[in-house]
Amino acid sequence: MADVVLVTELEYPKGKELFEAAEGLDFQPASRLEEPLAEAVLANDCRAVVLGVDPYRGPLYDALDETGGARGAIIARFGVGHDGVDKVLAKQHNIVVTNTPGVLDQSVAEHTIWLTGTLARHVAAVDARFKAGRFEPRTGLELAGKTLGIVGFGAIGRRVARIAYCGFGMHVLAADCRPLQQLEAQEGKSFEQIKAAYGLELYTADAAAVFREADVVSIHLPAVEDTRRFVAADRLRLMKPTVLLVNTARGWVLDEDALYDALAEGRIAGAALDVFENEPYEPTSPERDLRTLGNVVLTPHTSSDTHQSNERMARACLDNLTKFFAGRLDELTRVDASA
Ligand code: DGY
Repeated sequence: MADVVLVTELEYPKGKELFEAAEGLDFQPASRLEEPLAEAVLANDCRAVVLGVDPYRGPLYDALDETGGARGAIIARFGVGHDGVDKVLAKQHNIVVTNTPGVLDQSVAEHTIWLTGTLARHVAAVDARFKAGRFEPRTGLELAGKTLGIVGFGAIGRRVARIAYCGFGMHVLAADCRPLQQLEAQEGKSFEQIKAAYGLELYTADAAAVFREADVVSIHLPAVEDTRRFVAADRLRLMKPTVLLVNTARGWVLDEDALYDALAEGRIAGAALDVFENEPYEPTSPERDLRTLGNVVLTPHTSSDTHQSNERMARACLDNLTKFFAGRLDELTRVDASA
């Protein structure tokens, strides 16, 4: 009998064709909410789930422990960020955790660029005015020659840098805590070659230097303990009053109340966010609702959601699941807790 794989409801349609065609695996859509999902795991005697970005903190792990037993179970993230999965709990319950690195970088990078352009040319604002009957242009900003500050120079940050440099002629500054040697090893290039490829004028562990100099700041940090509210009031105060701030990483890395104050007081010019502390969005303080501000553009965690990236993520999930059921655990893209 085919092994059942439960896929959370937002992800299932994104990979439906591939999931339905998969041999030996019976993919089924399931609730994204943890309790009903855990119940479905038990009801289907299922030891494999594909999850979206939501947080899962308890019952799911107990259920997969029960169904997986000594054979173990798998949580396959449909995406790269795995902050919603408790890896320590997973390990305790004999559950391997996988993700799909690399396959969504272009989609997220492109969305970052579209958000930057939307802010630079007030696209959302003039569109809203137009539809309200006002044919009123608004003067925007050319990106050419401006300085882009990338905070988190991983695969996605680097791709944004490359588009901004090659496409718009922006200057690029990067802040990242990884030593230069690690970057060189990842890229397989010398620092001089990296600088040339990305238009990189500064690579530093000191994010303050980037916040001070950049005309556009784009955040690409992972959600880990050290990055909790990394972009907070003190760092927002370092930025130019004309800065445009873009976050397509995680809501976790940004203090939304502090951002609200900076935008409302005109201390920064604009922000575009695709990710939020609470998803679906709820303001972190009711009196600081970002939706009430004119200088902010908001999208609903959609940066990786393109047809192309969805297909690649579904394939990568399928690959991990197939290998898991074949017992080829060392071939998975695993992100388990190390301890
Ligand atoms: C990711 O893969 O982490 C994206 O944020 C979409 O979930």
